[in-house]
Amino acid sequence: MAPDRHDIKLSVNGVSYRRGVESRTLLSDFLRHDLLLAGTHVGCEHGVCGACTVLLDGAPVRSCLMLAVQANGHELSTVEGLATPAGELHPVQQAMHDHHGLQCGYCTPGILMTMTAFLKENPQPSEHEVREALSGNLCRCTGYQNIVDAMLAAAQAMRAQP
Ligand code: FES
Ligand code: FES
Repeated sequence: MAPDRHDIKLSVNGVSYRRGVESRTLLSDFLRHDLLLAGTHVGCEHGVCGACTVLLDGAPVRSCLMLAVQANGHELSTVEGLATPAGELHPVQQAMHDHHGLQCGYCTPGILMTMTAFLKENPQPSEHEVREALSGNLCRCTGYQNIVDAMLAAAQAMRAQP
């Protein structure tokens, strides 16, 4: 392996991958181009918009601010892993659909991943807490109200799950 390439092994949505990557490859590019998981979107590419948010060992991270080599040995979750294999939507996805929480959808994967982690830690959030949790994810279309409504509904649905 060339000196600037590294063998990495990681799990994404429960599937193990082993790949050679360049030192400089961003995690967002690795997911989109090497693993063809293009559901993770890239907006600003400098940590501001939140579109590229994925979960690293359950915690939200901005994949445009991480190198692929830094994910070596870790477990990642992306938007592709939210629905069940049978196609049943995760409560956050279902609620976004039901409450019209998206328009162009560019910001949506990042919002879904951010809020999945948030609602797991905060099952009964207030509207203010939901707004705070969303504050690192920029949406240029919706005005946020429907996203907030969706996330409050998702929290309720997740609490009702067995
Ligand atoms: S693309 Fe990563 S935060 Fe905007
Ligand atoms: S729905 Fe278009 S940026 Fe959020």
